[in-house]
Amino acid sequence: MIFLPKIYPSILAANFITLGTEIDKVLKNADGIHLDIMDGVFVPNISFGFPIIESIRKYTDAYLDAHLMIVEPDRYLEKFAMYVNSITVHYETVIHLHRTVTWIKKLGCDAGVSLNPHTPIFMLEEILPFLDKVLIMSVNPGFTGQQFIESTFEKVKKLRQLANKINPKLDIMVDGGVNKDNIGKLASAGATTFIIGASIFHKEDPYVEIKELKEAAKSID
Ligand code: DX5
Ligand code: ZN
Repeated sequence: MIFLPKIYPSILAANFITLGTEIDKVLKNADGIHLDIMDGVFVPNISFGFPIIESIRKYTDAYLDAHLMIVEPDRYLEKFAMYVNSITVHYETVIHLHRTVTWIKKLGCDAGVSLNPHTPIFMLEEILPFLDKVLIMSVNPGFTGQQFIESTFEKVKKLRQLANKINPKLDIMVDGGVNKDNIGKLASAGATTFIIGASIFHKEDPYVEIKELKEAAKSID
């Protein structure tokens, strides 16, 4: 089977003054747009909220992938579902995860759970059959441009093994410090979607970068 890696650029690394142009630059080659929502409580940073998300939705029909780095995400699920195609909550922020995931699906969105670097894969065993995606953080969430944590490769492998048994269609996403040097190894470990900020938006030609990143993901080592 041909492997078609997906890339969702994270606009956290984009220039917000010219956001429309930034989105145009990446959408020709990207598979969706990743929206990092930060509340300054769960993570030590604040990003952007509904006025920007609504503007993006009006601007493009692209797949919008929301990554909620906020406490009590249940409070905002309905509002996010008005604008985005997918909602990922952090394992560390939710008490009744099955209820939250079921609700996201009911609202018509794909449902994902994200794990901080210290949270083990085995915590997902029971919820995995209900998920469309798992987002493995390869940095501590909060900022763009951080150093990739090497133990992520093993974590992705473990998740792929578990998913093969109980949810083979699971989309395994990796977020943070992904670049041309690690994307091939992540793909061979079993990752299928790559969230990339700095290594796309901080480069001269984001269009070419995405193309090259996809090529690198296919050259599995
Ligand atoms: C970090 C965010 C990431 C981040 C990725 O908390 O979840 O999406 O913006 O950016 P890079 O690729 O720059 O590490
Ligand atoms: Zn993210």
